[in-house]
Formats: sequence, C-alpha cells, structure tokens
Amino acid sequence: MKKIMLTGDRPTGKLHLGHYIGSLKNRINLQEECESIFIIADLHMLTTKNTKEDIIKSKENARQLVLDALACGINPEKVTFYLQSEIPEINEIYTLFQSLVSVSRLERVPSLKDMAKDANIEMPFALLGYPILQAADILCVKANVVPVGKDNLSHVEITREIAMKFNKKYEKIFPIPDAVISNECPNLPGIDGKTKMSKSAHNTIDLTDTKEELTKKVMKMPTDPNRIRPDIPGKVEGNLVFLYHDLFNDNKEEVNSLKERYQQGMVGDIEVKQKLIVALDKFLTPIRERYQKYNDNNYLDELIQGGTNIIRKKVQATLREMKEVMGFYS
Ligand code: TRP
Repeated sequence: MKKIMLTGDRPTGKLHLGHYIGSLKNRINLQEECESIFIIADLHMLTTKNTKEDIIKSKENARQLVLDALACGINPEKVTFYLQSEIPEINEIYTLFQSLVSVSRLERVPSLKDMAKDANIEMPFALLGYPILQAADILCVKANVVPVGKDNLSHVEITREIAMKFNKKYEKIFPIPDAVISNECPNLPGIDGKTKMSKSAHNTIDLTDTKEELTKKVMKMPTDPNRIRPDIPGKVEGNLVFLYHDLFNDNKEEVNSLKERYQQGMVGDIEVKQKLIVALDKFLTPIRERYQKYNDNNYLDELIQGGTNIIRKKVQATLREMKEVMGFYS
C-alpha cells in the first residue's frame, strides 16, 4: 500500500524560496510515491493571528497558498487539499488527544516560544496546544510521512508520542509518522544574509518576483566582506551568493568555474551576481508559468472544496474508530 503524506502551511501570505527549499521541494518529490494530502491550517493561524481582518484575509490567503504550491510543482491530480476549519471533526480529535500530553512537555517546545515572541504576545493557551492540533491534522488521515520545515520537527515528535500513547492505552490504530526535512538547506538565509528567509524580516525572494525584482534583490546581497577589489582572492564558503548558486543554478560547470575564479581573485562580484540573476530567473520561469495557468479563483475554490469533502469523510471514519476503541460506544 502507498504511504500517506500529509503536509501543509498556515494561510498567512505568499510563499518564497525559503519555503521551496525548506519543505516544498521534498513535498514535490514525495507526491510521486505517496498518497498526498495538503492541509491549509487556518485554525493554526488563529493561535497567533485572530482578528476578524486576519480571518477574512485567510480565505484569500488559502487560495494564495494553494496557488503557490501548484506553481512550485505540486500536482493537483495527485494531491488533495483540505481546509482545516471546514472539518470540525479535527477539533474533536484534538480534544481527545489533549489528555495524552503534559503541559510541561508542551512548554519545552522551542518553536512555540519563538512564535509568541514574534507575534509579541504572551503564550496563549491555543499556542501551547499547537503541536496537539498538528498531531490531530496528521493522525486524522493516518499519515506516515510529514515533510516540514526544521522548526516543525518538535511538533512531529509530539505527534509520534501521541500516536504511541494512544496505541498503547487503547488499541493500535495509528501509524507512527516520520518527519522529512530538507537536508540540502533546512533554513535558507534571506537576501540580507542575517536571518532565515521570512516575510517579517523583509528578506525574501518571492516565487512571483520579476527579473527586475530579482536583479534589485541579488545586487543587494552581501558577499565576502574582505574583498574590496575583484583581484583579491575571495572566500566561497559561507558566501551567500555562492550558497544560492549551489541551490538554484543548475549549470554546475558554471558554478565551479565561478568558484575557482573567485578564489583566485579573477572574477568580480558583479559577474557572479549577474550569473545568479540569470539562474534564478531560469529557475522561476516554469513556476511563473504554472502560476499564470492556475491563477483562477473558481478553480482554486473548487480544488479546496472538493478536497475538503474527500478528506472530511476520512477524518470522520478515523474519529469513529478512535471513539470505538476508547470505549465511547461500549
Ligand atoms: N505547523 C505548520 C506551519 O508551520 C503548519 C501545519 C499545520 C502542518 N498542520 C500541519 C504541517 C500538519 C504539516 C503537517 O505552518
């Protein structure tokens, strides 16, 4: 039987190259071998963003998220999308899992503290429960494989603990899912080279950036700070522009020759950057094309609604089975 992959994001805005390298790429590879499900985690968004405006906007952002995923190469024939808030049974599963995890276990999850800090709020009860809700997302479809960004590893760990506890306490009905993280570059640095790429740090390259935007961004990227003239030998390791070349330039010969010449002081930063702009533009071309192709609200709404209906049935069956083995119907 095919393995089940479950992955997804909160609908908080456009995806960027950090998402691509951090998790989308894995998802795209795995969709070939797995039965693939993609969650639009709007209830998770509420743990840090919950004004009426945020919620209204999340509808638009849900479409945006699906569109970005399709643009990157997620295949709508192979992947089923679902909107979390439209499947109330997930909440019931979430409640049933809550007695399987201690508060101190949740307080040790580093990403939750970071999220509270980033949102400038005191830890809400809902945010403390974030990994349990994520466990409900994953286990409600009995997923085996969960491609996520590095910051989500501890959430999948809690999911595994919940699945093992449930299986031991009641009956073995859940698989123990494995997280899959990018081993290429789990935290892509942004174009400022200071922190990981994120919207809040204003250091992203977006999937829909034009060549002009790419040019502006790449020209601003820091390189080897000690190299004030092109004839000074430069450092390639830890050099942001070369990190991007390694990840996004498919012409490996060109990259190797640039590296050699850079280390010998025989190429200027401008040429290295110009070649990176060409490479990124080439990388983004098919993404932009698919973006145009799928950019249709009716199509996206139908994809989300149709997928949600399919997944809801699976979730209902899981909930029934859970309650059965827990003794609710005895
Ligand atoms: N926590 C993920 C994020 O950081 C979103 C998410 C919610 C998720 N439920 C999931 C990811 C289940 C993978 C599987 O945005």
